[in-house]
Amino acid sequence: MIQPIKAVFPGSFDPITNGHMDVLSRACKLFPEVTLAVLQNPRKVSKHLFTIEERLEILRKATEHLPNVRVEAFGGLLVDYMRETKATVILRGLRAVSDYEYELQIAHLNRQMNPDVETVFIMAATRWSYVSSSMVKEIASYGSKEITKMVPPASAEALFRKFADLQ
Ligand code: PNS
Repeated sequence: MIQPIKAVFPGSFDPITNGHMDVLSRACKLFPEVTLAVLQNPRKVSKHLFTIEERLEILRKATEHLPNVRVEAFGGLLVDYMRETKATVILRGLRAVSDYEYELQIAHLNRQMNPDVETVFIMAATRWSYVSSSMVKEIASYGSKEITKMVPPASAEALFRKFADLQ
């Protein structure tokens, strides 16, 4: 018998964008439980703008309307986290062909390390194909309010606060 599938959507989410939200809401219609798993960088010097606590808070706020979504941090290899949490599907979003090569490599490596785990790709809507966390951060760093069209309100508020604090 097929068990209800536990899906994990891993990422840096620094911060979550409308592209991620689109992939997540599509996944919520396919899987009974979806965990947003935020990579906790073990190194002291993080390349991320937001701390792990800030990212978790943004994610919880941005997903509070989605009842089958959980938000967690994970460290170490994703395949080990999948085993520990008995999750069998890794969800990744694809925006454009340029994402594919990198994603294919990771999916094959993860399959080699844990053949019981399947990577499932969900295409983000075309309107988000050009949106990335790094571009959004760059635009926000110049004080532009345009990012409110690209990220959920929780991310936009956190970005405005962060860049105001950094000034
Ligand atoms: O949002 P990102 O930065 O593209 O997410 C990348 C992420 C977190 C999914 C990936 O780096 C990852 O799974 N890291 C955990 C360490 C790991 O398992 N690496 C093996 C992949 S080959």
